[in-house]
Amino acid sequence: MQTLKTKVAIIGSGPAGLLLGQLLYKAGIDHIIVERRSADYVASRIRAGILEQVSVDLLTKTDVDQNLKAHGLPHSGIEILAQGRKHRLDLAALTDGKQVTVYGQTEVTKDLMQAREQADLVSFYEAYKVKIDDFYDEPTVSFEYQNQVYQIECDFIAGCDGYHGVCRASVPEDKIKTFEKVYPFGWLGVLADVPPVADELIYVQSERGFALCSMRSETRSRYYLQVPLTDKVENWSDAQFWDELKNRLDPESQKKLVTGPSIEKSIAPLRSFVTEPMRFGKLFLAGDAAHIVPPTGAKGLNLAASDIAYLSSALIQYYQEGSEQGIDKYSEKCLQRVWKAERFSWWMTHLLHRFETESEFDHKIKQAELNYILGSEAGQMTLAENYVGLPYEIQNLNKR
Ligand code: APR
Ligand code: PHB
Repeated sequence: MQTLKTKVAIIGSGPAGLLLGQLLYKAGIDHIIVERRSADYVASRIRAGILEQVSVDLLTKTDVDQNLKAHGLPHSGIEILAQGRKHRLDLAALTDGKQVTVYGQTEVTKDLMQAREQADLVSFYEAYKVKIDDFYDEPTVSFEYQNQVYQIECDFIAGCDGYHGVCRASVPEDKIKTFEKVYPFGWLGVLADVPPVADELIYVQSERGFALCSMRSETRSRYYLQVPLTDKVENWSDAQFWDELKNRLDPESQKKLVTGPSIEKSIAPLRSFVTEPMRFGKLFLAGDAAHIVPPTGAKGLNLAASDIAYLSSALIQYYQEGSEQGIDKYSEKCLQRVWKAERFSWWMTHLLHRFETESEFDHKIKQAELNYILGSEAGQMTLAENYVGLPYEIQNLNKR
């Protein structure tokens, strides 16, 4: 067995783990990333693509923002198509100049992995049987890599290993509480090299169900359809997808829609999930390991980023100032922001999707709520303020 020593063992090389690694590296804090998948697999996973301004600011602090600055598309508004009519929400005007940036999570991941490789930082990809042996007294992680058993002795473990990871599963049941809501539908997503139907995202509420017109660049589009959970992706041909999308759009968008072969097609279930607390002794959970949001509010990646902002700041405070204040407050601070984003994502999901179980009365109330939101500046502001991302202050993440 080979024993390694480091300050922070990071489990998982998704955006949460990679961002934490980069921020610790910039602060000179030794760490190791352990990931069960291959680097190629991690770098090619297709995920969402909207960054809040605060997430862009955090990436700027890591210094890994060159591609983001060059290729990210700043968006100062979104469209909501409801009852056949499009309404533009001027995010910038409604939030004192804030906007979001369209930049794929896949790109964020690739940029951070490349920076890691260039800095020669230690990562183990394709690590098997990852196990958290202790996270209270002497934090230890063990795993197998290229037929050899490794053990990492560390000060802290960062559980950035997503919803299906080993970290949350290692916590004894009586120490953890989880809250969950599963939605009775999924999103069928298609990625295609066709120009987007509009300059801005269109969130579609229609009698046939929700749809979303998003993009990755001026030549690559990402579209989604609400589908029953029983649907199988192999039963959706490209032609059927485009037909159904058209059916949910307004006449102008129908005319503008450019279709083409899909380069990725998948169905994702929708779920709201929160773990409390997010710290257990010397183990911290961050990102999808601690919480899941339905994608309607585009909050998944952004919440992972805010957890990491709090966690990196707490660890830097610990190593640079010898203070445990940030560590002690980590869970509470994260959860405050997490629950607000959970609320917003749940609300957007309810407002825009069709629920088979809703009564005619429920349906009418929902239409009235949407009419109110879209017709009132206060209503629009509420949506916009949450969509661009609620602000948070991080003190000590300045460049080295
Ligand atoms: N050991 C090591 N690594 C693991 C293990 C394990 N037992 N289990 C899972 N992993 C890895 C996964 O392979 C994945 O690469 O942990 C990583 C977790 O990454 P993500 O799922 O991307 O989670 P996170 O980094 O928190 O990013 C959150 O991802 O799913 C989206 O909507 C979500 O955008 C949000 C973002
Ligand atoms: C995406 O582009 O994948 C996307 C955008 C906005 C969302 C969800 C997903 O709300």
